[in-house]
Amino acid sequence: MKGIILAGGTGSRLAPLTKVTNKHLLPIYNKPMIYYPLQTLIEAGIKEILIISGPGHAGDFVNLLGSGKEFGIRLSYEIQDEAGGIAQALGLAEDFADEEDICVILGDNIFQDKIEVDDFKEGARIFLKPVEDPKRFGVAEIKEEKVIGIEEKPENPKSNLAVTGLYVYDNSVFNVIKTLKPSSRGELEITDVNNHYVKEEKMDAKKLKGFWSDAGTFESLYRSSSLVKKNQ
Ligand code: DAU
Repeated sequence: MKGIILAGGTGSRLAPLTKVTNKHLLPIYNKPMIYYPLQTLIEAGIKEILIISGPGHAGDFVNLLGSGKEFGIRLSYEIQDEAGGIAQALGLAEDFADEEDICVILGDNIFQDKIEVDDFKEGARIFLKPVEDPKRFGVAEIKEEKVIGIEEKPENPKSNLAVTGLYVYDNSVFNVIKTLKPSSRGELEITDVNNHYVKEEKMDAKKLKGFWSDAGTFESLYRSSSLVKKNQ
């Protein structure tokens, strides 16, 4: 299995912190943000990882992480020219994936758990976490322990289970992405990709045990630093 870190986007919700640097280079307690998703993939046993970022700061990622040798892995880099959404960024990884299964992680997501991917067979897998503010996330609707639908930032969430920014797919994901249309916010949505697998009954959902946080707002950036410090 190969790994992909999505570190594009504009980081506009963190302005002015993101005026001259990329969100994923900002500190979470004592490390740059991107170290955490990188560590999550490494702990899952993944050795080949692609980092996708916007054009502005790609060189900074190379300066920071280099070939990956320091971490015992191999790193590659790809540019997303415009922030066209998470699924659009993922579509750029098709050549890198080269028919293999992939584990995709959002560059602003901090996970405490060690993630299980070795038993993945086909379709897709997501990871859920109960949250107090589900309206900010993709939210899973559950019936008899199964995910029957996912809504992106719903006004009236059908559960408190956020779909976290970690996804496992087989190679069919690249064909699914090619069928997507931009959402009302003008992006290709990862939630549309995931709902495709839900409909096909090829979606498997795991619940996380440890803490999880995104870090894309001032509140969640601060919270992520506190969680990391408290649990180190
Ligand atoms: O954090 C989990 C949530 O992430 C999920 O629950 C949602 O379903 C999912 O849509 C996403 O929601 P956000 O609106 O918070 O995503 P955001 O636009 O902040 O992007 C998250 C990361 O994805 C960001 O750190 C970098 C990457 N990204 C995003 C966009 C829009 C890209 O690489 N390229 C992009 O064009």
